[in-house]
Amino acid sequence: MSVPDAPSHAQGHARGPFLPYGRQSIDEADIAAVVEVLKGDYLTTGPKVAAFEAALAAKLGAGFAISNSSGTAALHLACLALGLGPGDAAIVPSITFLATANAVRMVGATVVFADTDPDNGLMRPEDLEAAFARAKAAGLKVRAVFPVHLAGQCADLVGLAALARREGCAIVEDACHAIGAYHACADGSAAPVGGCRLSDMAVLSFHPVKTVAAGEGGAVTTNDPSLARRLERLRAHGMVREAHAFENADMAFDPAGAANPWYYEMREIGWNYRLSDIHAALALSQLGRLDRFVEERRALARRYDALLEALAPRIQPIRRSRFSMPAWHLYSVLIDFRALGCERAQLMNRLRAEHIGTQVHYIPVHRQPYYRALDPALELPGADRYYARTLSLPLFVGMTQVDVRRVVGCLGDVIGARTAAEVM
Ligand SMILES: Cc1ncc(COP(=O)(O)O)c(C=O)c1O
Repeated sequence: MSVPDAPSHAQGHARGPFLPYGRQSIDEADIAAVVEVLKGDYLTTGPKVAAFEAALAAKLGAGFAISNSSGTAALHLACLALGLGPGDAAIVPSITFLATANAVRMVGATVVFADTDPDNGLMRPEDLEAAFARAKAAGLKVRAVFPVHLAGQCADLVGLAALARREGCAIVEDACHAIGAYHACADGSAAPVGGCRLSDMAVLSFHPVKTVAAGEGGAVTTNDPSLARRLERLRAHGMVREAHAFENADMAFDPAGAANPWYYEMREIGWNYRLSDIHAALALSQLGRLDRFVEERRALARRYDALLEALAPRIQPIRRSRFSMPAWHLYSVLIDFRALGCERAQLMNRLRAEHIGTQVHYIPVHRQPYYRALDPALELPGADRYYARTLSLPLFVGMTQVDVRRVVGCLGDVIGARTAAEVM
């Protein structure tokens, strides 16, 4: 069956400028911050990186923030810092971006996919418990768990952390969607995501569609000084420059015992995952507007919530987590395509014709051919059910309440047109 292609603007929703599902918000201060770096001495890692890391750690309440070149690099570094490798396994929810699982594979460890809540894509404690049981049955040694704060709302970190600790596992939050969000703590208080109150590390992304943009960029936050030192070393070729850490005394020191000024040492393999000062300047400038960004995103989400009531139950917001004060990175809805009698692609194409961009977050990662080949029989019905119904609507700072009305109006027109067509 197809969705009729009668133009919705004919029914009162004027086709406006294209609304992508997400985009950055850049102001003059951001531009000035980048230009200042371009006119200065440091293009690569310099004072702006240090300033950004200090501001990020302070904002999120973490002991350390180690920036790097992308969220993917940050996830890879987190796996390396934990010493994950061949023979180890890590649990990752299937509804996430490829990078969460891929980081585990980059270090040669096995990914055990967990199922998710079918109504919001978040891994629940029961999903984690089932994944532990599957891993044990397969003889796998699980060493880490990666909760993903999908769309900017948090999983039940208290429940997940209790299970992970019981099994002796590290916890790495994939918080790439959730800067500015708060998660619930056991005592009922709320803690900022990235503060690592319940985890060993949290990973952030500063990709342009994220709430804070650097162009490309990421960070790992932690309260553990030894993890922080290791992360710093691994993002820069595994190199150390601190005299007290040198092993080769004959090369490192002059006859008087002073460290040679050129000297550095490498004891383990590392990468070039550094952030540049150009990117850090933009991220630092953006970080100063984080609270405003989050508030604007929340206000737009509230407007969507209110307007979408008219389209329920065929189109409705994803289920709200009880464990979270979200910072919406995505505005995802659940659509009953069967009831609508249309395919998702038809709806997306129809909306695109009306200058409305949408996206699917995400295809369950366990369904990707690479991972299917590793575990062909795995079935995760919650993740599949979420995937079958999800669609992310436009949400970005600078979008207006009128834009939200246009999006919901077009969705309503599509449903209405379909209903009208059925009558004929
Ligand atoms: C949940 C999640 N994890 C990790 C990443 C990787 O971040 P980056 O694109 O900065 O490498 C993304 C980016 O889209 C993401 O959405």
